[in-house]
Amino acid sequence: MRAADISDQITKVLVTEEEILAKLEEIAAQVAADYEGKDLLLVGVLKGAVMVMADFCRALPTVVPMDWMAVSSYGAGTKSSGVVQIRKDLDADIHDKHVLIVEDIIDSGLTLSWLLENFASRGAASVEVFALLRKPEAAKVVVDCKYVGFDIPNEFVIGYGLDYAERYRNVRDVAVLAPHVYS
Ligand code: XMP
Ligand code: MG
Repeated sequence: MRAADISDQITKVLVTEEEILAKLEEIAAQVAADYEGKDLLLVGVLKGAVMVMADFCRALPTVVPMDWMAVSSYGAGTKSSGVVQIRKDLDADIHDKHVLIVEDIIDSGLTLSWLLENFASRGAASVEVFALLRKPEAAKVVVDCKYVGFDIPNEFVIGYGLDYAERYRNVRDVAVLAPHVYS
């Protein structure tokens, strides 16, 4: 479904599916060049990054392994709790691997900075981040993010994997959720 189908629940569309797919092609070409000859492992952060991972990994020109981690720093609300909890750990041993974390969004940055430290302590050869979206104005900690899709304003967004209380992940576009939906 498209954002236009829920126009009563959003205030504006920030990034369309077409813009996302074009950007993923661009970043996939960069990543393919940067990691040529290296042992790359994609790590998706559940659940928000499912759509990004699905489209991004298929835009890559080479066969690449992937793994998933589930962490949680948000409850049903729209603000970070700052507490990161592992809900599902990696299956793979990332020792000596070149890890690229695939994320839906960097908001406060708390989740990713925690993940970066965690992965570094497991002996990865390198750890980089690809985030489809980033809210520069919301940063509480600075995260070194090598690949960014789109910088967006500091508003709560849904769609393309991003949810509010588990809803709206199946909207193809990224849109700002109307405040009347969560207040
Ligand atoms: P932090 O604040 O730690 O964010 O950088 C970590 C995770 O929180 C989720 N998040 C959002 N989810 N709309 C969402 O649906 C948003 O605007 C939003 N901001 C943060 C997301 O899972 C991110 O990985
Ligand atoms: Mg996430």
